[in-house]
Amino acid sequence: MKEKKFGDIYIKGKEILKKQKIQSYESDNINIFQNCFGIKRHDLVFVREKIAPFESAQKYFEMIKKRINGEPIQYLIGNWNFMGHDLKVGEGVLIPRDDTEVLILESVKLISKINKPIVFDLCSGSGAIAIVLDSLINNPDMKITAIEYSKEAYSYLEYNVKKHKKNIQCLNMNIFECHNLFADNSIDAIISNPPYICEEDVNSLQREVKFEPEIALNGGKDGLDFYRIILNKWVKKLKKGGFLGIEIGWGQLGSILDMFKICGLRDIISFKDINGVDRAVFAVK
Ligand SMILES: C[S@@+](CC[C@H](N)C(=O)[O-])C[C@H]1O[C@@H](n2cnc3c(N)ncnc32)[C@H](O)[C@@H]1O
Repeated sequence: MKEKKFGDIYIKGKEILKKQKIQSYESDNINIFQNCFGIKRHDLVFVREKIAPFESAQKYFEMIKKRINGEPIQYLIGNWNFMGHDLKVGEGVLIPRDDTEVLILESVKLISKINKPIVFDLCSGSGAIAIVLDSLINNPDMKITAIEYSKEAYSYLEYNVKKHKKNIQCLNMNIFECHNLFADNSIDAIISNPPYICEEDVNSLQREVKFEPEIALNGGKDGLDFYRIILNKWVKKLKKGGFLGIEIGWGQLGSILDMFKICGLRDIISFKDINGVDRAVFAVK
């Protein structure tokens, strides 16, 4: 590769992404550029005639190539800002989605009313829910436990909890098994965004999503396996008056409402996400 100026590299990368029909070509290019050269878009004007370091330029075009092959931008740059928190992400962990905001914001309202709340985040992934809850509630008497089964995802959870200096207990455990370790009637709030995609739909997901771990997506034959275990085994762990808040997938509201009612939960209420999709369901024990 010949010596290249920052300005030329920036334009070339943008053109490649656009030509390959990457919808977010503009912002992806800005992110990749900043990641490789440490130069923000608004500072480019000051350096565009300067020659870029060869190795960084090589890295930049490699990342552009990976992006056009469908690798999510979040994995390429290695972190993602979720609700004001920079979280480390990469292969092996689900990228936190804006869809999850509604689950968190409604949980904050309910948990803020509880004295010394004991909170569990089941299927914690990068720790997005537990970490943002802790920041927004900001109660030193709150105890949050985050449970994650995948070893890869767990390493991101531990890292992010440390990075944000959170006092969150992290457990590398399987929620289908570890419920026995906790006493009945001992938890104030169980929050969960579990895997909820039907087995047969996992293969037909968008190209970018296929880079994410199947263990984070596959909710079994009908997508409801994790809700079953939560309702059958974890609701017992809630104190009377404690609440359950879960994220759900497209078209799952009817089945979830039925399951909640059968389980004897009360004050069942659902919320839509920013795109108008039924996304979070809450109920009280
Ligand atoms: C949909 S992702 C949600 C991650 C995170 N809560 C978020 O909102 O970004 C589901 C997570 O559940 C984890 N998981 C899958 N099976 C599990 C199990 N049996 N026990 C605990 N965690 C599990 C996956 O590894 C993944 O991190």
